[in-house]
Amino acid sequence: MVYGNGGVTIGRNVLIAGHSSINTVSHAAERCDVPINDQPVLTDPVVIEDDCWLGLNVVVLQGVTIGRGCIIGAGAVVTRSIPPWSIAVGVPARVVGRREGAPPPDQPPNQPPNQPPDQPPDQPVGEAE
Ligand SMILES: CC(C)(COP(=O)(O)OP(=O)(O)OC[C@H]1O[C@@H](n2cnc3c(N)ncnc32)[C@H](O)[C@@H]1OP(=O)(O)O)[C@@H](O)C(=O)NCCC(=O)NCCS
Repeated sequence: MVYGNGGVTIGRNVLIAGHSSINTVSHAAERCDVPINDQPVLTDPVVIEDDCWLGLNVVVLQGVTIGRGCIIGAGAVVTRSIPPWSIAVGVPARVVGRREGAPPPDQPPNQPPNQPPDQPPDQPVGEAE
């Protein structure tokens, strides 16, 4: 189920198992003298970057970005953004690990995993005198 009013971006090679839901909507509820149904609808986009795997029954709430390469365990409720290459489980979802072989955290986010970081261009070879 996708509640997409607030905008959902799903990257390439993302696996989403059954009964998962992605939500971009919530309701203002500051006033108790007005039905929640009559208060503003709030939206906040969700981004799921490339190569993520969401297990069964995962709930992704509004405003969350799940970084590239993450694994979200079955039954998790993702209330906060998750950094790339994380393994997160639980309610609320907490990062419990980082995938083996993940690039170092300071590597540019779009660098493929298990690759050396970008090298500076070859220096010109000085001419022999
Ligand atoms: C998140 C997941 C990938 C972790 O797998 P794993 O690395 O083999 O983890 P383990 O089974 O060794 O469990 C490690 C710990 O995390 C806990 N754990 C594992 N999955 C969990 C989950 N979904 N929610 C909460 N805790 C979880 C285990 O109980 C264990 O805790 P412990 O160390 O206190 O005993 C896996 O458990 C999962 O949720 N897979 C989703 C499967 C699915 O939905 N498939 C649908 C078809 S795509």
